[in-house]
Amino acid sequence: MSEELIIKGETKQERYEALVPQIAAVVEGESDLIANMANVASMLHETFGFWWTGFYRVIGEELVLGPFQGPMACTRIRKGRGVCGTAWAKAETQVVPDVELFPGHIACSSASRSEIVVPVWQGEEIIAVLDIDSTQLATFDEIDKRYLEQIVQIIGKCNRK
Ligand code: SME
Repeated sequence: MSEELIIKGETKQERYEALVPQIAAVVEGESDLIANMANVASMLHETFGFWWTGFYRVIGEELVLGPFQGPMACTRIRKGRGVCGTAWAKAETQVVPDVELFPGHIACSSASRSEIVVPVWQGEEIIAVLDIDSTQLATFDEIDKRYLEQIVQIIGKCNRK
């Protein structure tokens, strides 16, 4: 496996298209979930220059901060709380164009303006969420949702807790 990320593509879609096979190659060669979350957070963060990119892991009744890139963040989020806890409770991706309009949004950073949170499934179970924050409004759309869901599927398939 090459340990150098190749960032290419003009459009967001082209960048995801270039990124997905590189993520698959990295994740398929490693069985440790935390190691894979760490590399995926880094690869997404470097490719797109997001403000905050990382994982919260499901531990008991809470989400607990996992591997991430960006400023320090809150460590524990209860089910149903904030965007992350909502994605977990509803078992579906949350695309939030303006965090100020999301009831109960948890402001880990005042610079964050829009956000996407994608549940990470392992079989029938949600084991984590992928959370990405942007300093711009409405950064995330159906393209991000589609590719990020594909990316977390790669993580969920290739790892054991
Ligand atoms: N904004 C998130 C909390 C996590 S930070 O953005 C890293 C939320 O409302 O769940």
